[in-house]
Amino acid sequence: MAMRIAITTGGGDAPGLNAVIRAAVLAARARGWEVFGIRRGYSGLFQAGYGGVVVLDEAAVRGITHEGGTILGTTSRGNPFSFQVTQPDGSVRTVDRSGEVIDRFREMGIDCLIAIGGDGSLRIARDLARRGLNVIGVPKTIDNDLDATVVTFGFHTAVQTATDAIDKLHSTAEAHERIMVVELMGRHAGWIALFAGLAAAADVILIPEIPYRLDRVVEAIEARWSRGHEYAIVVVAEGALPLGGEASYLDDDPGLKRRLGGAARLLSRQLRERTRHETRSLVLGHLQRGGAPTAYDRIISLRFGSAAIELAERGRFGCMVALEPPDVKAVPLADAVRHLKTVPARGDVVRTARAVGISFGD
Ligand code: F6P
Repeated sequence: MAMRIAITTGGGDAPGLNAVIRAAVLAARARGWEVFGIRRGYSGLFQAGYGGVVVLDEAAVRGITHEGGTILGTTSRGNPFSFQVTQPDGSVRTVDRSGEVIDRFREMGIDCLIAIGGDGSLRIARDLARRGLNVIGVPKTIDNDLDATVVTFGFHTAVQTATDAIDKLHSTAEAHERIMVVELMGRHAGWIALFAGLAAAADVILIPEIPYRLDRVVEAIEARWSRGHEYAIVVVAEGALPLGGEASYLDDDPGLKRRLGGAARLLSRQLRERTRHETRSLVLGHLQRGGAPTAYDRIISLRFGSAAIELAERGRFGCMVALEPPDVKAVPLADAVRHLKTVPARGDVVRTARAVGISFGD
C-alpha cells in the first residue's frame, strides 16, 4: 500500500538530522510513497495554508548527508500539548493544540509520522501515538541520554568536537601552567564529558552521576603538580554537582525553563582560591551541536532513517528505531522515554578512566 509520510525534527538540533531525513525520504520514494516535512517541529502545521509543510522528494534531500542542522528547522518551544501563544499584550498563554495536530495530519492524509527527537520530542510522539496517531520515533540527541538504544545519533560528533577542543587546551594550559576548566553539554547525563574527557586525557572529569568533593579535585590537581606536570585539564559536565549540593543554573531567562550553566566558572574560581594556581574556564556550548556529523553519525543516522521506513511498511507504529548491535531494531516509544539513560557510575568506561589516573573528584 502506498503511504503518505510526514517527518518532523524537534528539540535541540544534532548532527545527523539531515542524514536521517535523506535516508527516510529516499527509502520512502523508492517504494513510491509521498513524504512531507513539517517546518519547526509541529509549528509548521499551524501556519496558514499549510505554509509550514514542504514536499520532500529526491531533489529536496540531495547532498545533505554531511550537513549539520536540519533542513526542516526545529524548536525547543513547540510542544503541541503545551503550546505557547503570545497574546497581544505580550503575555504568554499555554494552550493544548495536540487535537489540531492530529486533525491536520488526518486532513493531509498522513499514514505515519516519523518524529526525530530527544526525550522531550519523543514524549510528545508517544502521547500523540496514545491519541491514535501512527508514529515512529528516531532517537536524536548529542546527550546520549535516551534509554532503549545503545546510542543516539549526534553524540559521536559532539564527543569528537569536544575531544578536539580539549586536545587544543593541553598546549596552552601547559605553556601557562594553568588549570583549564572546560564545561561540556549533556544536561543531567555525563556521557559527553566522560567520553571526551577520557579520549582527550583530562586529569579530572566531573559528571552528574558521581557528585564530587572540591577537596578531592584539589588533591588530584596538587598531586599532578607534585609529579612535575604543572598544568591540569578539568572537564565538567554542565549538570555536574558537588556532593550534597546542586548543579549550576543560568538565570538569564527568568520565567522560562531553568537552563544549566556556570559549573566551569564556579569551579574555576574555587580552584583558584584553593590551589593558588592560575585558572581559566570556558564553555564549549553549542559548538558541540554544530558542524558536519562524523562518519559514524552519518551511518547510524542513515540506518535509523531507512529502518523507520521499514517499520512503517510493517505497520510497527508506536515504536522507536534503536541500535542494538549489530542491528537496528524497534523498541516501544514508551520504553525509550521512561528513564533518562545516565552513565553507570561503576561501569567499565568510568573504571577505564580511573585506571588511567583520571579523578572523578569522589
Ligand atoms: O539536549 C541537547 C542540549 O544541547 C543539552 O546538552 C543542553 O543542555 C541544551 O540542549 C541546550 O539547549 P538550548 O539549545 O535550548 O540552549
